[in-house]
Amino acid sequence: MKKFLHDYTVNPNTFSFRLGKQPYEGSFMRQVLKASGHDAWNERENQQLFIKHPTTTFNRQSRNPKRPKGVKMLASDFIEDSLYNRHYGYFSKQVEIFQPSTPFEYAKMESQDQFMRDWQSQYTRYEDKKASSDQKSPKEQKTNAKDIQLWHTPTELFQPYYGEALARYLLVNYMLNQFPYDDLVIYEMGGGNGTLMLNILNYIREKQPDVYERTQYRIIEISHNLSTKQEETALQLKAKDHDHHGKVQIINKSIFDWKEVEPNPCFFIALEVFDNFAHDVIRYDNTTREPYQGYVVVDEHGDFKEFFTRDLDDWANAFLGLRENGKYPRLNQKSLWGDHPLAKNAFYRGFKDSIYPVHANLSDPEYIPTRLLKFFHILKYKFPQHQLLASDFSKLNETIPGYMAPVVQTMLNNRMVTTDSYMVLQGYFDIMFPTDFQLASDLYRQVVGKLADVSSHREFLSQWADIRATTTQTGENPMLEFYKNADFMYS
Ligand SMILES: C[S@@+](CC[C@H](N)C(=O)[O-])C[C@H]1O[C@@H](n2cnc3c(N)ncnc32)[C@H](O)[C@@H]1O
Repeated sequence: MKKFLHDYTVNPNTFSFRLGKQPYEGSFMRQVLKASGHDAWNERENQQLFIKHPTTTFNRQSRNPKRPKGVKMLASDFIEDSLYNRHYGYFSKQVEIFQPSTPFEYAKMESQDQFMRDWQSQYTRYEDKKASSDQKSPKEQKTNAKDIQLWHTPTELFQPYYGEALARYLLVNYMLNQFPYDDLVIYEMGGGNGTLMLNILNYIREKQPDVYERTQYRIIEISHNLSTKQEETALQLKAKDHDHHGKVQIINKSIFDWKEVEPNPCFFIALEVFDNFAHDVIRYDNTTREPYQGYVVVDEHGDFKEFFTRDLDDWANAFLGLRENGKYPRLNQKSLWGDHPLAKNAFYRGFKDSIYPVHANLSDPEYIPTRLLKFFHILKYKFPQHQLLASDFSKLNETIPGYMAPVVQTMLNNRMVTTDSYMVLQGYFDIMFPTDFQLASDLYRQVVGKLADVSSHREFLSQWADIRATTTQTGENPMLEFYKNADFMYS
């Protein structure tokens, strides 16, 4: 029997599989490459491969403990499954959010360098955790060693000041628009360790006890581990407020499974959650500019191939339509040298492809935020009276190739390593996307019908945070200096 060999030469950076009629069928270079006999050039076989595999979705796959084989999935479903499958998804494992043992006291620190040193020294707690896991049996060791993935968020690094800044923003807006007619209802999607909830509620209780009495805080959290942590954090409130249980509710589900309608005015907070919302992949025909959407075929050996079809699904279609109708259309952009695939020089791309046709006359990929669009629809229909307060990364380094492409990373031997494709063994990698906040705000306006402002992390916090308390003795302010690649969006 012929031994099966995995072919690692075929990946999205080396070949694009395009369904339907192939461009440059008769070109000399194409004929030469075809003569090489490589599987990638057997178009008929590839098309059959795509057709013969049934389509599955994240929802259908989400309870399956085994990684899918012999199926095709939209790129967004593949990414969502890699991150959120209950059994092997990245979020089902032990992701931890770094938490200092006691909040950093910036005003007592000499400089930003001292902050860096103090921060580093706190890592030892996590190292110790890992070391104790290293003493376990080899099987446990393996799981633990790869499971400890540490996130750093401004909520934790700058607690309680970051949470207090947001609380100040919420209180001012509540007093202006809703008080005394409505209670203060706050939803937080993706509550992490529960630190933001604690900092916000403590601040409101201290500054505005009458409003605190009328405050409800609800966390919508996909991760079971983190929702347990949030319950524990909520107990800290109990020490000061025996009635806190009526105030805090932790709901362990994904926002995409949210069914109830919240009819009351409320604030909806989302910090560092958009970056893990799945995206779809689009490549454009270099000549006609027609979009093609990416699917991942997972064959019976578990190998991945990315295919592009001109049949767009509803969310990709909706996103491209809204963008064209909004403030940032791409199709009729003049052909310039720009970052977006449609802004690149068309003549150059066409020419390059005709002499080197491995990408089937398709452009570089663009990653489009189809789940973010779905989230905006959930806000519109399930939280009709909400005001949004979100923050996330607008730019990321070491991404895979492509426009608005994600970082795909994992811990290996205690070091964070990145890779160059999102089609990697499901559950082992964090897949994080940057957000184009100007575009997001325009989509939000079109979908939800409200306006949302965008400002940088620094601008927002300069306005709402306690700057004195977060400034070191040399006058540096780590809370304002860090996260230069993050923005706020608020409606
Ligand atoms: C990077 S952490 C940020 C945590 C916290 N907001 C902070 O800033 O410290 C992302 C959080 O979002 C949650 N999350 C991710 N996707 C979600 C979804 N679809 N629905 C609800 N929570 C989600 C994660 O489990 C986690 O709590």
